[in-house]
Amino acid sequence: MNDSVSNPVLSVDTVVKRFGKTVAVNGISLDIRENEFFALLGPSGCGKTTLLRMIAGFEVPDGGSIRLGDRDITHDAPEKRPLNLMFQSYALFPHMTVWQNLAYGLEMESLPRGEIATRVDDMLKTTDLSALASRKPTELSGGQKQRVALARALIKRPKVLLLDEPLGALDKKLREKMQLELKRLQHEVGITFIIVTHDQEEALVMADRVAVLKDGSILQCGTPQEVYERPANRFVAGFIGAMNFIDGEIGPDALFRAGGEALACDLDGLQRNARAVLAIRPENITLKPAGSGIAGTVVDVAYHGLDRQLYVKTALSPAPLQVRVAATGPGVAAAQTGATVSLAFDAAACRLFQE
Ligand SMILES: Nc1ncnc2c1ncn2[C@@H]1O[C@H](COP(=O)(O)OP(=O)(O)OP(=O)(O)O)[C@@H](O)[C@H]1O
Ligand SMILES: [Mg+2]
Repeated sequence: MNDSVSNPVLSVDTVVKRFGKTVAVNGISLDIRENEFFALLGPSGCGKTTLLRMIAGFEVPDGGSIRLGDRDITHDAPEKRPLNLMFQSYALFPHMTVWQNLAYGLEMESLPRGEIATRVDDMLKTTDLSALASRKPTELSGGQKQRVALARALIKRPKVLLLDEPLGALDKKLREKMQLELKRLQHEVGITFIIVTHDQEEALVMADRVAVLKDGSILQCGTPQEVYERPANRFVAGFIGAMNFIDGEIGPDALFRAGGEALACDLDGLQRNARAVLAIRPENITLKPAGSGIAGTVVDVAYHGLDRQLYVKTALSPAPLQVRVAATGPGVAAAQTGATVSLAFDAAACRLFQE
């Protein structure tokens, strides 16, 4: 699937990479825009790192090509590409201070001393690290090390910065803070970011566009809103966010039938008289006064602070449906295990898949 954009800064064209019998990347095409924050998202082993390593030049594709602007870089050595790859293990030089870690890459380019000093000081300011300039990596927290690694990658002013699970080593709270910081930094320095993550929430929070990968192929590419609200297939629907799946069939009357209920949904060109699966998110199911919707029994309640997740057993599916209710809304009274409830589906938010 190629999501064409005009004047891409980076173009990946039907790239293939095999390791023995394993097809790690199976003909991926992708166009990345200038200044875009792009996320590659997918389960472990789907080929994310391999794709990034080919873009950076650490692996040579078995087929296809990679272009940076007008230039074919498929076979260029990594150091010949105006790209920078930030690995998950930060690989900071342990014997050097933060300042020296940042200066190192510029010294390798034999820049004048004065310019190096100015650029290091500026980058330390941008990344909020000035106060730590003379510390060694062992004297830093995980989040600080992460920022130094990022600063060191950014200071070289790459056209594109490739980040492989940059926040993987951080705890949840720091991770969330760094997600916003990364986004701010990217905006500030105006560099194209391609980030690899297997955390869907992270991709949705940070990226302008997301590509969802599985088994070396892109299943869907779009804005976070597009992939969340209009998932292209069952895998994407289940991979991104919480989702209820209901097996059933589309009748001759175009209604979706399961467990003795008939629901009106947008068929979106799907076949009638055939099996289908309906996908609906917990926030798109609402509680109704008893007797007016699909009957169910609350079998479990999970407290989430601002809202609660109800698990409601219905005739529609063997698994209870997840239903989100606001902690202050009308659903609170029903948010008790054992309560009898009535459910209504937001028809516009239902997605049907046949595959
Ligand atoms: N050097 C290698 N030799 C052999 N097989 C490899 C090599 N590198 C990757 N693979 C295989 O290619 C596939 C894709 O691996 P890759 O590292 O790209 O996955 P990933 O999406 O980055 O996964 P993770 O989220 O676990 O990092 C996997 O099946 C992996 O075992
Ligand atoms: Mg990886």
